[in-house]
Amino acid sequence: MKKNITVLRGDGIGPEIVNEAIKVLDKIAEKFGHEFVYTDVLMGGCSIDEYGVPITDDGIEKCKSSDSVLLGAVGGPKWDNVDPSIRPEKALLKVRKELNLFANLRPTKLFPQLADASPLKPTVVENGIDLLIVRELTGGIYFGSRRTEEIDGQLVATDEMTYSEAEIERIGRVAFETALKRDKRLASVDKANVLDSSRLWRKVVEEVAKDYPEVTYEHMLVDNCAMQLVKDPAQFDVVLTENMFGDILSDEASQITGSIGMLASASLGDGTGPGLYEPIHGSAPDIAGQDKANPLATILSCAMLLRYDFGMNEEANAIETAVERVLDAGWRTGDIAGNGADLEAVKAAGKLVGTKRMGDLVIEML
Ligand code: IPM
Ligand code: MG
Repeated sequence: MKKNITVLRGDGIGPEIVNEAIKVLDKIAEKFGHEFVYTDVLMGGCSIDEYGVPITDDGIEKCKSSDSVLLGAVGGPKWDNVDPSIRPEKALLKVRKELNLFANLRPTKLFPQLADASPLKPTVVENGIDLLIVRELTGGIYFGSRRTEEIDGQLVATDEMTYSEAEIERIGRVAFETALKRDKRLASVDKANVLDSSRLWRKVVEEVAKDYPEVTYEHMLVDNCAMQLVKDPAQFDVVLTENMFGDILSDEASQITGSIGMLASASLGDGTGPGLYEPIHGSAPDIAGQDKANPLATILSCAMLLRYDFGMNEEANAIETAVERVLDAGWRTGDIAGNGADLEAVKAAGKLVGTKRMGDLVIEML
């Protein structure tokens, strides 16, 4: 197959980790007889510097007309004080909205090889962590109207959280369909004891659930979910939630695996256009350009890209297996090498590697 991929390298470590991911995609193309054609588009701080906006309309059009979009990471201290209307994050929200990427899938998996890195007790971790957060991505408080106005001599700020039945239903269906392909358990997370938008959420999800009798589902309040994630993460398979709750819970979930440098994500639409694939970590400006960043989350995002946008399951599995093999063989970038004695042991074994070498190792295992 011939496929066009738009590449948003972004800022900080973005370009380095995307380079490694493209090396891996090229190896897959060679091995399985495909052709991947890449088109670069500036996004984030690099685009602000070049064009004065975090992504151009032409850039958005290029994303829309490609078969898939791969993103590194955007932002950095250099652009922290730019006008809020052109912040790097704005570009991300714009791409999500313009490409109608309403379903954000964030698999959160504890790699057994890295279990020591989890901040949770071994007695908790030994039950495993393998959950998938399905976060609604184009609605809710992120896209509601907002304003800051002066009322009676003081500033008053408002952000509205709005959901329609149709918006809830379509993300609900994605979550139940996803659960069918996993362990068939789903927790729908809301704040129905307080919010109207959550009460509607719950009502619509209950309706959708009727079409999926094979899936065991429950409703859970978001504060309780935050607690359960650290108390007993093994109870979760698919976690369905709205935009802002998903933002917060997915950071918490990533942290309990101890290796944020390993986690991939996919943002999907209705299947008529490309998806967006990115590591869940940020642009790490402090280590940018030093060949220290872990490229595995971006490489694993490519596996999701192949699976969801191109239907290339065998190719996706090949990448995931190669990454497992690299970990099994003891290779580590700094972020997953542990501390103290663990780190010394990795170093002594000569297995502490940089970004490029990590990319090469995945290719060797392929
Ligand atoms: C994320 C990020 C973004 C979000 C920011 C950068 C706007 O935190 O993808 O989780 O809040 O959605
Ligand atoms: Mg976030």
